[in-house]
Amino acid sequence: MEKIVINGGTPLFGQVEISGSKNAALPIIYACALVKGKCVLENIPAISDITYSFEILKGIGAKIKMLDKTTYEVDCTDIQPCSSDYDMVRRIRGSYYLLGAEFGRFGKAKVGLPGGCNFGVRPIDQHIKGFEALGGTTSTEGGYVEINSENGPVGANIFFDVSSVGATLNIMIAATLAEGTTVIENAAREPHIVDCANFLNSCGARISGAGSNVIKIKGVRELYGCTYAIIPDMIEAGSFMVAAVATRGSVKITNVIPKHLESISAKLEEMGATIEEFDDAVHVTASGTIKKTNVKTLPYPGFPTDMHPQMSALLCTAEGTSYVNESIFENRFRYVEELKRMGAKIKVDGRIVYIEGGTPLTPAPVIATDLRGGIAVMIAALTAKGRTEISEIKLIERGYDNIVAKMQALGADVKKIVVPDADDLEQAN
Ligand code: EPU
Repeated sequence: MEKIVINGGTPLFGQVEISGSKNAALPIIYACALVKGKCVLENIPAISDITYSFEILKGIGAKIKMLDKTTYEVDCTDIQPCSSDYDMVRRIRGSYYLLGAEFGRFGKAKVGLPGGCNFGVRPIDQHIKGFEALGGTTSTEGGYVEINSENGPVGANIFFDVSSVGATLNIMIAATLAEGTTVIENAAREPHIVDCANFLNSCGARISGAGSNVIKIKGVRELYGCTYAIIPDMIEAGSFMVAAVATRGSVKITNVIPKHLESISAKLEEMGATIEEFDDAVHVTASGTIKKTNVKTLPYPGFPTDMHPQMSALLCTAEGTSYVNESIFENRFRYVEELKRMGAKIKVDGRIVYIEGGTPLTPAPVIATDLRGGIAVMIAALTAKGRTEISEIKLIERGYDNIVAKMQALGADVKKIVVPDADDLEQAN
């Protein structure tokens, strides 16, 4: 088993380059399954969710070539629908985009139910409602979702009950090759939705309105390959911004789109940090006392739920009592118990986390409870004087490209160690 060990208490200083966006790269990789031809995808992050996704596509017949460290050629010309590996699919959430892609291209799909971080119930009823509106007959049995249709998807008007990133993307992907026009209302507006629409349009799709809450998709007969660069990861960028403030450091974060970071920048400035904006970078500096604040997570352009645990870790270092109100996921609080182990005065009441700041955090053995909970304990450990060991770091590596090396380059005393896990010890005995 691998662990991350952090000797905290040192401010982060220097410059860090942000990788491509996980939540944009995932739908785009699966959307390649719509294309008979080769797509070259640039700025792909080196994270395990992407590795699994490539394995899933290879398993159904895609040819994938690494052209350089961040560039891949994806050729889905000869894929077989309804044949993806159940155990691979259930490892990640983004695998549900294969449903939209198979249904769009072949008029049928069969994919295992997705996995992903455990935040309580994560229904896919809006995806199903969308596929049915497009003329699919769906069933969920034996752990699989199956979609069938006579002649493939047919354009329709769909009004989502909730703003869902996954459902918006899945239906947009499926509708790209549908007969006629699809209109998605109450669509999610996250930058990764715009990115996926831009990718599909570069392949010959006719999608307009992505980034607003009404998206119009005029179905086309087929798509062709293209070369496309994925946008930078706003949550990776936000995590480094928060780490810079939490350690009272000064970090220039490059390869970002500052507009995507506005809700995060605004909160950090409210707390007393200084943020200098460049065309494709932000420089975050903080020192001394940081003010308390309150945060409510909301769909884009509101404060992202994927930055909630990191903000809680930061607020432990602020003066006074703050709260984070989680309005997207019913149970994204497992990291709270880990921060408590580090001495945080933090409690959950319903969907609100109350954080009483001002007492320095102290080292403790902790675990990454999920992807963002994991980076939150890393940030907490960077502020705590002494040695913190973090287990279950695979969850962090699902979404952070080279996190240890990037933190080291900013002066953090952090390393990865390998320790025998309980099973190995039992076998040795
Ligand atoms: N929802 C439904 N029904 C649905 C779909 C969603 O009720 O059919 C609800 C959810 O339960 C939730 C809300 O709608 O309360 C929003 O969920 P959404 O569908 O937007 O989330 P998701 O597609 O499951 C993606 C990201 C998450 C990110 C959320 C919100 C991927 C692979 N995952 O999840 O990313 O938190 O959007 O922005 O893109 C992460 O990167 O750490 C992560 C968890």
